[in-house]
Amino acid sequence: MGHLVSPSLLAADFGNLGKDIKMVNESKADWLHLDIMDGVFVPNISFGFPVLEFVRKLSEKPLDVHLMIVDPDRYLSRFSEAGAGILTVQYEACTHLHRTVTEIRNLGMKAGVAVNPHTPVSLLKNTLPYIDMVLIMTVNPGFGGQKFIMESYNKITELREIIERGGYNVLIEVDGGIDTGNAAKLVKSGVNVLVAGNSVFSSADPINTILNLKDLTGN
Ligand code: DX5
Ligand code: ZN
Repeated sequence: MGHLVSPSLLAADFGNLGKDIKMVNESKADWLHLDIMDGVFVPNISFGFPVLEFVRKLSEKPLDVHLMIVDPDRYLSRFSEAGAGILTVQYEACTHLHRTVTEIRNLGMKAGVAVNPHTPVSLLKNTLPYIDMVLIMTVNPGFGGQKFIMESYNKITELREIIERGGYNVLIEVDGGIDTGNAAKLVKSGVNVLVAGNSVFSSADPINTILNLKDLTGN
């Protein structure tokens, strides 16, 4: 399987969300990434259920929902009802991670776990049998448009080895500071899903930028 591209709606024009969702529908994007921030786990607040439900109505792509919230257990069924296809919780926000990811799967969604830049991927070793994806944060979560953290490459390589050795069916997603300049190296390092916010929505031709993130031959 080739890698997937998941444009992050956080960088879209919220005054004209319908237009940007339509653009993603018409593009080669595989998923649509949605960042939910609560102002507690991260120092920023993004959007909640009314926006998510609006997006669900218009989007033809599976919704890749990234929760940057404390105590996500309170809202898992709401996110399922709101149409999340894959639901990712932050490792650092979950005291009973096994219970949380099991519940996500029981609700019919795919389960993802995100790790902050300071969190070693080795901590996920015993969780890999129960999840579908690990999201390696390549910036500190909370804001779009930040600089990619170079140490992320070592984390990707290490996690790829752990996954291969254990024979787990788990995707590696990266999020933060991804663009056409580092995408090829990331995929070569073992990444399956590229999230891209500003590099897509701030580009002059977003459809073409998504195409370039998909087709990395020549990079
Ligand atoms: C950051 C979010 C990202 C963000 C990425 O906390 O999780 O999904 O939208 O934005 P860029 O691609 O602009 O770094
Ligand atoms: Zn995200």
